[in-house]
Amino acid sequence: MNNDRTEVHSNLDSVFHWDYAVKFPQLDRLYENAKRDQWNVSTTINWDRPIEREVLDMTMMPMFQTDLYRSLSDENKLALNRKFAAWRLSQFLHGEQGALMVCGQLVDAVPDLDAKMNAAAQVFDEARHVEGFRKYITKLDRIYPIDPTLDRLLRAIMEHDRWEPKYVGMQIVAEGLAIAAFRFMQRETKDDLLKELLEYIMKDESRHVGFGMLALRDAVRKLNGKEKKDLEEFSFLACDMMVTKVENGVPRDGFLSGNQVFEECGISMKDIEDEMHRNPAWAEAESNLDRQFNSFLFVDTIIPCLRQLDLLNAHTEPWYKQLGVMEMASAA
Ligand SMILES: [Fe+2]
Ligand SMILES: [Fe+2]
Repeated sequence: MNNDRTEVHSNLDSVFHWDYAVKFPQLDRLYENAKRDQWNVSTTINWDRPIEREVLDMTMMPMFQTDLYRSLSDENKLALNRKFAAWRLSQFLHGEQGALMVCGQLVDAVPDLDAKMNAAAQVFDEARHVEGFRKYITKLDRIYPIDPTLDRLLRAIMEHDRWEPKYVGMQIVAEGLAIAAFRFMQRETKDDLLKELLEYIMKDESRHVGFGMLALRDAVRKLNGKEKKDLEEFSFLACDMMVTKVENGVPRDGFLSGNQVFEECGISMKDIEDEMHRNPAWAEAESNLDRQFNSFLFVDTIIPCLRQLDLLNAHTEPWYKQLGVMEMASAA
């Protein structure tokens, strides 16, 4: 075991494509846009600006209303603000590295050349996103380890030996997660440098979802019954992985998986659980925030895409209903 790296195994086939004619003019146009929209992390953004002392607007966080938060020293309040931002941004960074590698796999495995070239353009976009988040987090604080939920999702996508599930997992589900998380972060940050970085990255990400949808529409139509069923199941599994589970009234994973941050600011997991039991309104407010996030993620982003691809259909809709991700969050 080496803490600096993790190896993931996959039995993916690499495919040569010998017909060089443009088959999908829409994908060709998207490739042109990808070239036109390149930007340079080190020169497009002015990195000489200092980061705001308070990166996050804590008044928007449910924890702001708790005795636990009020009991912290000013120094620990500021540390919590910056470290919590660094922890969340570290998850973006790990997700970007996952995207970089999955896209590399797609270059190899997708059978059509137009799709290979778009995936190749995306590889460089994702490298740029890794560069941007790494640069920002190291300026802010430090890089935290990957959250277990994100780790499970990325591994499931990387280990799969077929390219269609990788496409859905990365281009629809993980890209959807990135867009929802970036939109949330943009709403919650007070820092202009971070807002600008997220703005540029989100423009690239929306192109990536467009690429996924174009390429997948054709691919899903070509699947046989068993392959289509497997893809439906994998798409649901990927969505299910991202929904925060609640145990004994306390949400698991989600923001609590950043427990290292709390401990560094003098808050133990026991302090958090005690406060949540003493103050159920806090647990409720965290769940509300989760619902708002899931509404951004599923209702606005992932579900319309899965429907268009016929992966959310009469057969699979009950699964998503049971997961509780089909309706708009009331507090959104
Ligand atoms: Fe990205
Ligand atoms: Fe992306």
